[in-house]
Formats: sequence, C-alpha cells, structure tokens
Amino acid sequence: MIFLGPPGSGKGTQAVKLAKELGILHLSTGDLLRNAVKEGTDLGKQAKEYMEQGELVPDHLLVELIESKVNAGELSDGFILDGFPRTVPQAESLKEMFTKNGMTLEATVLLQVSDEEVVRRLSGRWFCPVCQRTYSYPSNMPKVDGVCDDDKTKLQRRPDDEESVVRNRLAVYKKQTQPIEDFYRKESVLVEVAGEKSPLAVFDDLLKVVL
Ligand code: AP5
Repeated sequence: MIFLGPPGSGKGTQAVKLAKELGILHLSTGDLLRNAVKEGTDLGKQAKEYMEQGELVPDHLLVELIESKVNAGELSDGFILDGFPRTVPQAESLKEMFTKNGMTLEATVLLQVSDEEVVRRLSGRWFCPVCQRTYSYPSNMPKVDGVCDDDKTKLQRRPDDEESVVRNRLAVYKKQTQPIEDFYRKESVLVEVAGEKSPLAVFDDLLKVVL
C-alpha cells in the first residue's frame, strides 16, 4: 500500500496505526532520510540541503534506497510506503520493481487536507529528540511546556516545519507529487480519504476503504 498526500496530511500518523493493525511494515522515506542525515552517511550528506529547503531529494537516491530494501527481502511480507513515490519517475520505477519481484499494489491512499490546516498543524508540531514522541500544540501538549513528558528532554521542531519551508513543501507537492495522483487513478488503485477529521475518525474512514 502507498500513502500519498501533502506534507502534514497525516500520512505518518495513519500509516503507523494501519501497519500495526495489519501486522505489516511501515516504511517512511522521510524518517529514513532524517536518520541518514543524523548519522552523517553519504545519503544523509547528499539529502540534507534539499530537505532543509523543502525540496525533493533527487529521484535516483530514493529509487536506490527503496530498491535496496526490496532486494534485501525486507518488504516481502506486505508494507506501507509513506513518502514514496513522490514524482512520476519514482512511481514508474516502483512499478518496474513490483513487476520484477511479483509484488502487487493493493491501494494508494490519498489523504486530503487544505493548505491552511497543513500550516497550522506543522507550526504546532514538536518532538522529543531522544524517544521521538511527538506533540501537537494546542491539542496534544506536554504537561510542562517544551519538555517531553516521558524523559524530560527539551522538545525540538523539524527545521522544515518553519512556515516559509512548509509553504515551499506545499508548492513542491503540487508541482512534482500531485501528478502521480492521476498515475494511480489510471491504475484504478487510488482511494481518497478526508484528512481533516480527528485522527481516530480518519482512521475509521481509512479502515472502511482499505479492508
Ligand atoms: P516527509 O518526512 O515524508 O515529510 P512530509 O511528506 O512533508 O510529511 P510529514 O511527516 O510532515 O507529514 P505527514 O503527512 O506524515 O503527517 P503527520 O502524520 O506527521 O519528508 C521530508 C522531506 O524528505 C521531504 O521534504 C523531502 O525533502 C525528503 N523526501 C522524503 N521522501 C522523498 C522522496 N520519495 N523523494 C524525494 N525526497 C523525499 O502529521 C503532521 C502533524 O499533524 C503531526 O503533528 C500530527 O500529530 C498532526 N496530525 C496528524 N493527523 C491529524 C489530524 N487528523 N488532526 C489534527 N492533527 C493531526
């Protein structure tokens, strides 16, 4: 399954829950890239600047990353791809990988959220750099402002959640990623889910269309 949608539409939130419910793997290219940047790997060094500016990392790096997971057999028992593909060339490469490995795409879930809701959500997103727990101001705040409830670490924001970068990520989504909605519509695997209800209500709607 593929999760598609603008930045902040809830792909990560919903994909993690669905993967747990179905007992399958959740693979987020954003998380993989952020770890690569943190660890200072070659991939991380090449990706860092693009990510900080809200631009897409070059296609060949992402295709190699996903291909390495497929070739290692890590995806053979079912998986949700969150954040890949993000361009038509990435979608075409993924299709080739599926054909070559006898894999089937069950569904592409598109989460629909307005630009203003995206800006509102991402300007309120904080996370703990130690345990990775995330907080959303004002709906899900820590007990002490700016401090993780679990390990008392000072909370941080993602550098690409700054409003001007979020606006660029939205523009990049419209220009480079939205065309793949049609790619999957033509393949008759696109299902659309309204993403502005509560996380629980979105999950209920999601289960209705994917199970
Ligand atoms: P990535 O990490 O994939 O960022 P993104 O797509 O912009 O997604 P986000 O993680 O910001 O949002 P999300 O939709 O997962 O929402 P979430 O559940 O977190 O990519 C980062 C960068 O990496 C890219 O800009 C690019 O540079 C690079 N990259 C990654 N993949 C690439 C690729 N394939 N090709 C090239 N470059 C690539 O929720 C967001 C917030 O909203 C949270 O605070 C959450 O608690 C809250 N929230 C969620 N649901 C709700 C709800 N229903 N109501 C209220 N709040 C909610």
